[in-house]
Amino acid sequence: MAASICAFILTLSALCVSRVVSGVLSPPINVRLTSDDMDLVLRWDPPEGAPSGLVYTTAYQSSFPSSKTGCVKISALECDFTQFNISVYGSYFGKVQAQLGSEESSWVESNTITMDKETSISPPNVHVFSSGASLELNIEDPAFRISSLKNVYGIATYNITYWKDGFKEQAKSFSVPHQNRVFLSEVDPWSKYCVQVQINTGRSVKPSKPSRVICESTTAEEAPWEKVVVAVVVMVVVVALVVVVVVYWKHISQFINPKDLRDVKFKESLLAPLNSSIYMAMRNAPPLEEVYHPVRVEGSRTVKEGGSLEAAGRSSNKPPDVTVCVGEKEKEETEKHEIMK
Ligand SMILES: *[C@@H]1O[C@H](CO)[C@@H](O)[C@H](O)[C@H]1NC(C)=O
Ligand SMILES: *[C@@H]1O[C@H](CO)[C@@H](O)[C@H](O)[C@H]1NC(C)=O
Repeated sequence: MAASICAFILTLSALCVSRVVSGVLSPPINVRLTSDDMDLVLRWDPPEGAPSGLVYTTAYQSSFPSSKTGCVKISALECDFTQFNISVYGSYFGKVQAQLGSEESSWVESNTITMDKETSISPPNVHVFSSGASLELNIEDPAFRISSLKNVYGIATYNITYWKDGFKEQAKSFSVPHQNRVFLSEVDPWSKYCVQVQINTGRSVKPSKPSRVICESTTAEEAPWEKVVVAVVVMVVVVALVVVVVVYWKHISQFINPKDLRDVKFKESLLAPLNSSIYMAMRNAPPLEEVYHPVRVEGSRTVKEGGSLEAAGRSSNKPPDVTVCVGEKEKEETEKHEIMK
């Protein structure tokens, strides 16, 4: 009995002494520093029996010895250090003290966080599309508060796990380098598959959280729209070819068989209207002979080689263009005839 009373008195006195000796505020408790998607947040709980009006001041410190002031005299129970100049490769711990008027508690330090190793990465945002007999995945990285996943972890890979709906125990996994579009081709047509994606950064302790499960069905070997596109392209090409062949048939046949074109031209010339003066003149002209005698000049009128045949023509009754269109020897002949007349 005496002993218990004694112990009670001792405890009481100890409490009184501690209260008197410290004369200061109790510090915050449960202080922890966390990082999600490259943020950095310090959180704590108020001390037991905290008086109203209690405020907190925080600081953060990297591997450098000096600490930097964080949030000052806030009533909230957390401070976001991301707003200060922190590095994605830095190693930090935070600390916090309670304040009431001029009274201050002692500082309480948090755990240390190495940003790129310990930040917790959110799942990627995954969309799955049916692409015929394969599935197309569209993968978006989670947004980081500072920098981006690609900048911080250049060699990140996606770990893709997929299984036929209802057969998760037979799931297959494979890793692909960081890219936004991934095709799952080793899947059966007309089947429903479920997909989950995780990011492995290679540097962080844990991979990202897995994305939510998304299921999508494959269809036939080829997507219907692909068939339509192929059919339209083939039709356009065929029509274009036909039009080209029809429009350029003559050129094409000449190219294939030049003799044909000569025939065509010959026929054309036969079919041409027979009213040209050249033709008339040729028809009216007497049969031409190969005559090599020099021009015989009788009387006073002469026509020199290369001279004005027109002049000669004008002096006769025939139209002048007759002489223009015949060859040298024919000219001679014509002249001879004219002269002989
Ligand atoms: C941010 O911190 C880096 C070092 O970590 C320093 O080089 C840079 O000058 C700082 N920028 C500002 C705006 O304080
Ligand atoms: C990929 O994810 C699956 C399922 O979560 C896991 O079993 C497998 O070990 C992972 N592979 C890699 C390379 O991380």
